[in-house]
Amino acid sequence: MAVGERIVRALNQQLNRELYSGYLYLSMAAYFESLGLRGFANWMKVQSQEELMHAMKFFDYIARRGGRVELFEIEEPPKSWSSPLNAFEYGLEHERKVTQLISDLVELAIAEKDHSTFNMLQWFVKEQVEEEESFDEIVEKLRMAKDNNMILLMIDRELGERKFGGGE
Ligand code: FEO
Repeated sequence: MAVGERIVRALNQQLNRELYSGYLYLSMAAYFESLGLRGFANWMKVQSQEELMHAMKFFDYIARRGGRVELFEIEEPPKSWSSPLNAFEYGLEHERKVTQLISDLVELAIAEKDHSTFNMLQWFVKEQVEEEESFDEIVEKLRMAKDNNMILLMIDRELGERKFGGGE
């Protein structure tokens, strides 16, 4: 069964939000590079790649269901934050909003009785738990570090080890 118009529109909008997320985290990577925190920058670059992978999941799903993929303008992300903690708090807040958007999509799939879309979205439901968790974990560490530069550099080294795993 072909995918409904309302669903296609909503999925295309979410594809755009995932691209925006990728843009936002790339902007955070640039901010961290400007501070000389290369580990933080690496973590954000990997996060940005993950968001592109999320966007592609929507792209491929829409196309496979016979819908038309549409790309919209990507909003300009903020360019700087007051501190590394402030950037990660912003990211956590952003992920909470994305979780809400995914939840709204699930509600729409239920309302439209679209079981395939409902099923596809379950991957994102699970993923959002992990997304919020990973930001939250770093927010907690940065809160504990306060203004201690030694701890900040230790976190930087740790975040420098993150690699893009393809997101499965
Ligand atoms: Fe695409 Fe960070 O969720």
